[in-house]
Amino acid sequence: MSKQEVILCENLEESLGHALEKCPHDKLFILTDEHTDRLCLPALKEVPQLKNAIEIRIGAEDIHKTLDTLASVWMALSEKGATRHSLLINLGGGMVTDLGGFAAATFKRGLAYINIPTTLLAMVDASVGGKTGINFNGLKNEIGAFAPANSVLIETEFLRSLDAHNFISGYAEMLKHGLISDKAHCRTAGIRY
Ligand SMILES: NC(=O)c1ccc[n+]([C@@H]2O[C@H](COP(=O)([O-])OP(=O)(O)OC[C@H]3O[C@@H](n4cnc5c(N)ncnc54)[C@H](O)[C@@H]3O)[C@@H](O)[C@H]2O)c1
Repeated sequence: MSKQEVILCENLEESLGHALEKCPHDKLFILTDEHTDRLCLPALKEVPQLKNAIEIRIGAEDIHKTLDTLASVWMALSEKGATRHSLLINLGGGMVTDLGGFAAATFKRGLAYINIPTTLLAMVDASVGGKTGINFNGLKNEIGAFAPANSVLIETEFLRSLDAHNFISGYAEMLKHGLISDKAHCRTAGIRY
């Protein structure tokens, strides 16, 4: 599996600019869900390279991590003229980065993509490592592919609008990593044993 760059952003606009320079593309697409479209996309509106980006919006939450939603993303890419050299930015939680990553991995046999995770869970886990996919036949992540994002840009400012439930869900993931990792990692998460 090819390497992916994970960047802890001090300046999202600048980091995204560098990430885009490293991925020459003919067309640029941004995938959001109905919440990240409203709450997170405005933070990218000033990035000059995104001026002509084509937005694709899907429903929010795991209920939409389906073949139908995936097909709607393929359809949008196809109708808007995406080619093998187009680039997709996934702006959202783990649902968007999983489904968008799989859409990128499969459209025209694979487009480059960048993840900008907007939930804690996606920042600490889902957006990194290249596991992409959708739910199918009532089973979680039943269909998918390993396909790492070219870059993962972590901007913690996005967490300001996250609700407590989703914040705790991400924190639980961090604790799990700590518990199955080592004592030093655990201590950074505030666990003593
Ligand atoms: N690929 C992997 O390695 C991996 C690992 C763990 C989990 N996952 C997958 O990740 C998904 C869960 O991810 P999740 O917990 O991020 O859920 P999610 O993507 O469904 O997001 C949860 C909710 O938060 C909203 N949201 C996102 N960013 C927001 C923000 N900044 N402010 C306010 N609301 C925001 C979303 O619109 C959604 O309503 C599952 O599909 C799971 O299978 C993948």
